[in-house]
Amino acid sequence: MCNQITDIVAIDGPVGAGKSSVGRQVAERLGFAYLDTGAMYRAATWWAIENGTDLDNPEALTAITQNMPLHLSDSNGELRVRVGAQDITEVIRTPEITRQIYKLDHAAGVREHLVRLQREFGARQPTVADGRDMGSVVFPKARWKIYLDASLEERARRRAAQFAEKGLQVDLAELTREIEERDRKDMTRAVSPLQKAPDARVLDTTQLTFDQSVDAIVDFVREVL
Ligand code: C5P
Repeated sequence: MCNQITDIVAIDGPVGAGKSSVGRQVAERLGFAYLDTGAMYRAATWWAIENGTDLDNPEALTAITQNMPLHLSDSNGELRVRVGAQDITEVIRTPEITRQIYKLDHAAGVREHLVRLQREFGARQPTVADGRDMGSVVFPKARWKIYLDASLEERARRRAAQFAEKGLQVDLAELTREIEERDRKDMTRAVSPLQKAPDARVLDTTQLTFDQSVDAIVDFVREVL
């Protein structure tokens, strides 16, 4: 059963809902591959800036994205992102990249290319894929669709805790405003906006621990497997 193209756990949701950390753990528990599509948009943004591409020119962004030698790999349970020989795993998480992604994320040609790569990945093996348009656009026939959510306050608190783990102090009020602004952009863009697919199961993790969130998704998958 696991060899069918629909053996996809599609996880969508707003910034900081825990999609990546929960998704990765769900994939490990199920023995599925894990695909972080946000990392692909981040890598494309880094690559465009690195090449001096005009971020306001969708055709130029499409062309440069199509030429990006992107490699995603798993190293001891950690995603490594490389473009050519350069490891950009850390740099794509910087605020500079995060601020500029919206310039690429609504360029139709950029999305078309990355969506093709995502579908090819999902067709090769059972996959947990997280992003904004997994259930609605990329894998509309996914066997499992989850919309992972949590209150804005809780998402900001979790993000701040992640920064603190890296030794970075952030202003919680400012972080909350930034998250709200990114959500607004993700939800209102004309192309592939963040939305709950009609057949997605909503999982609000505001009151859940990390392990409880993982368990809830693993249980959902096993109900159907
Ligand atoms: O998930 P992450 O926060 O790393 O995603 C970064 C950004 O990439 C999102 O805010 C959105 O602009 C874009 N993105 C997207 N479609 C996806 C995944 C991410 O547009 N499937």
